[in-house]
Amino acid sequence: MRVKVGKTSIVLAKGDITDQDVDAVVNAANPSLMGGGGVDGAIHRKGGPQIDEECLEIRRSQYPDGLPPGKAVITRGGKLKARYVIHTVGPVWKGGKNGEAEVLAAAYRNSLALAAQKGLNSIAFPAISTGAYGYPFEDACRVALQAIVQELNELGGSAPEEVRLVMFTEGDFDRCAALMRSFFPGLAKTLDRNRWLKVCARGSRLASPLCCRL
Ligand code: APR
Repeated sequence: MRVKVGKTSIVLAKGDITDQDVDAVVNAANPSLMGGGGVDGAIHRKGGPQIDEECLEIRRSQYPDGLPPGKAVITRGGKLKARYVIHTVGPVWKGGKNGEAEVLAAAYRNSLALAAQKGLNSIAFPAISTGAYGYPFEDACRVALQAIVQELNELGGSAPEEVRLVMFTEGDFDRCAALMRSFFPGLAKTLDRNRWLKVCARGSRLASPLCCRL
């Protein structure tokens, strides 16, 4: 599913962030930058030692006390298809009254700004903070969509051509798709079409003869 914001296509996809063939994938890191579980573990494992080494250098030279939540740094992609990894730290969910939304928005915006600064044309985000950090999924998606659109508007001509939101599960894809539909009203029409095509493809009993002609 995709929607155009200025020159940028925001694309919702289901898959593994480490498989994305884009200029940069975004890592849902922790302040140590030394890897962890989830996205962080997958990127460090699959990307190999080059990512670890460059993260260590960033810690040594720029962030000896660790990467603060909301900030973003960049390393090369090592063995990943992606040329670069943008590491950002999302907020740990503590109930929503501790500035979590602002920090999450900053993580998306700073990652996008860094990609633009490097002249990158495509960037893929996981659903930052919605795993180990416990951010409620729908709330996090709303913050993400708002932050991405705001940053794209600010970046103007230097914005990337593609921003991909990579959902790890079918359920997360469907939940984010529903949110995108309400966030981008114009999308609702096209999405219904795509949705019906999916239903047709599944040969669901719900599929009316009409939909297969869509
Ligand atoms: N590709 C895409 N999405 C993934 C993948 C993957 N390979 N693995 C997990 N996800 C999804 C999760 O389902 C969740 O929706 O990414 C989202 C973020 O989950 P986490 O990776 O747990 O990230 P986060 O919630 O930001 O917590 C970060 O967890 O792994 C540690 O070191 C990391 O301490 C940091 C914390």
